[in-house]
Amino acid sequence: MPRSVMVTGGAGFIGANFVYHWVGAHPADQITVIDALTYAGNRDNLAPVADHLSLTFVHGDICDSALVSRVIAERTVDTIVHFAAESHVDRSIVDPGLFLQTNIIGTQVLLAAARAAWRVEGGYRDGVRFHHVSTDEVYGSLAIDAPPAVETTRYEPNSPYAASKAAADHLVRAFHRTYGLPVTTSNCSNNYGPCQFPEKLIPLLLINALEGKSLPIYGDGMNIRDWLYVGDHCRAIEAVLERGRPGEVYNVGGDAPMTNLEVVRTLSRLIDEAFSAEPALAARFPSSPAARGGTTLSLLKFVTDRPGHDRRYDIDGSKIAAELGFRPAEGFESGLRQTVEWYLANEEWWRAVLDGSYREWVSQHYGDGGPAGQARPL
Ligand code: NAD
Ligand code: TYD
Repeated sequence: MPRSVMVTGGAGFIGANFVYHWVGAHPADQITVIDALTYAGNRDNLAPVADHLSLTFVHGDICDSALVSRVIAERTVDTIVHFAAESHVDRSIVDPGLFLQTNIIGTQVLLAAARAAWRVEGGYRDGVRFHHVSTDEVYGSLAIDAPPAVETTRYEPNSPYAASKAAADHLVRAFHRTYGLPVTTSNCSNNYGPCQFPEKLIPLLLINALEGKSLPIYGDGMNIRDWLYVGDHCRAIEAVLERGRPGEVYNVGGDAPMTNLEVVRTLSRLIDEAFSAEPALAARFPSSPAARGGTTLSLLKFVTDRPGHDRRYDIDGSKIAAELGFRPAEGFESGLRQTVEWYLANEEWWRAVLDGSYREWVSQHYGDGGPAGQARPL
């Protein structure tokens, strides 16, 4: 039976990649994207699938309960995949209130609308599902010798972003326990890949390298993150939607934990290799050290640490592997190489993104420190 899937935040990084995946894997399904098009949302992200006839875009806020209920009813939505969120830790340090509004209230509005729309005598309509996309950051900073986080690891969120996601996770659980709503949650590690907004580590470093700007690394660069290619994340969510048990939580990792220094070293080497293999890049990006036979890594600069910066995240993905047969397929180096290729091929995309509200926001909050990562919040 074809589904009618509502994707919240589908014009953002992971949401758009999920829509590409879903359209390819489930062409008979209807898809409705609802997105407020904040600084992180971009309709152009959906351009590759714009011709898909059963894709509808609704420009709107998930906190708007009347709108959300209307969309669920009009599109007879039976599956909600909830990505919409404020997603950047540094911004949550500057403006936590917005994170509480979108990430907590927005999730509650969606849950209540789904519950009202899907209720029937004695339960819910067959086949309905609310899937909530969350993060490994809810588990807080793991000790260096602690095992990776499992689904029952205690929540210890440390940033306003992580705290808001933790609250949303609890609400999703509560709607299952209290009202029996068929929900699932996935908590995944750091994603990377095409269309990621260049305030996050990997695209920020990549674009700064091409523009000859410094590569800002917080603190001593020894913080550890596990890196998950976005395409693998989309497959994991698909596995949960198709085979996951209602009420369950699934951790999704990339099997690639590493320090930020390891990330910047690998990325710098791949950029240098790309310039060696493609001489035309030197003319396109003359300020890059690689254009002049230098090394990208020479741009590395240690900067003031992020307040409350979590030292280590790591995810144990054995539950989703054992129960649903999901394992990440992409290795870090090959996923990163594809990401470098995408940003090189889509210069227009990231220039447009950087010329928009992002530069304004950075200069408003961090002073006139320039675009990607020159000035840091203190
Ligand atoms: P993103 O910031 O790139 O995109 C968020 C999208 O949500 C944007 O399109 C934005 O316009 C939209 N949005 C924001 N507020 C909205 C509102 N009130 N109403 C409707 N739409 C709204 O985020 P992302 O990196 O794609 O992350 C997607 C989800 O995955 C988030 O819930 C995030 O917490 C989670 N997550 C992300 C990562 C990661 O590494 N990026 C890791 C784990 C979990
Ligand atoms: P980020 O991409 O912001 O994701 P998160 O904070 O959700 O893990 O950051 C990833 C790691 O990189 C994190 O340890 C913070 C660090 N970082 C830097 O060192 N420099 C930067 O400019 C940014 C944005 C992040």
